[in-house]
Amino acid sequence: MDDAPQVPPGVDPARPSPARVYDYLLGGRHNFEADRAVAEMIKAQAPEIVDAAWANRGFHQRAAKWIAEHGIRQFIDIGSGLPTVGNTHQVVRLAAPDARVVYVDNDPMVLAYGTDLLGDDQAAAVILADMRDPAEVLGNPELRRLIDFTEPVGLLATAGGVRGRQLPRAVAYDRGPEATAGRGGAGQGRPAGGRRHLPPLQG
Ligand SMILES: C[S@@+](CC[C@H](N)C(=O)[O-])C[C@H]1O[C@@H](n2cnc3c(N)ncnc32)[C@H](O)[C@@H]1O
Repeated sequence: MDDAPQVPPGVDPARPSPARVYDYLLGGRHNFEADRAVAEMIKAQAPEIVDAAWANRGFHQRAAKWIAEHGIRQFIDIGSGLPTVGNTHQVVRLAAPDARVVYVDNDPMVLAYGTDLLGDDQAAAVILADMRDPAEVLGNPELRRLIDFTEPVGLLATAGGVRGRQLPRAVAYDRGPEATAGRGGAGQGRPAGGRRHLPPLQG
């Protein structure tokens, strides 16, 4: 690939990462040879994986927009992945231009390229944190700057390997004893089959 991406600090390009493999499946450019090799191996075994990735993006976008249309103005996107077509802040702002979004991922590549994409957008941020450590996620100063836990929070966790309800429970706990996990909007998804090699519908 001629326009190979930069290697941000903390990234080992020889070691495939889920974020970069997924990026390649979606036709992105934020990946290295090791990621493409893994993606091609998966495709050889399960050719529907590309459709599944796009179908998952479509679900993510519809879920995010639906939550915004129902009045939620702040979002935490866990296991957010690399920037792609129709990122969460772009999608929710179709319904709520003032929406605030915090992207959470444990891959430094996501931090580097996500921050680059956001530029001087003060209402969105990318943080580097492990979703298995709710205290690390919820204690992050950028997240605390953007998310007001006295208000409902849209919690998106699509195809990020979230198991159980530890982080949703922690978000609910942060909102106060009266809050329950998922109230105020939560999405959790698994990839499913979809239309062949087409980006998800927008709007
Ligand atoms: C398949 S991508 C999904 C991206 C996006 N949520 C979507 O549905 O299109 C999974 C993402 O979860 C991230 N991830 C995996 N384990 C994680 C963890 N323990 N903490 C934070 N992010 C994690 C990966 O780095 C990757 O970017």
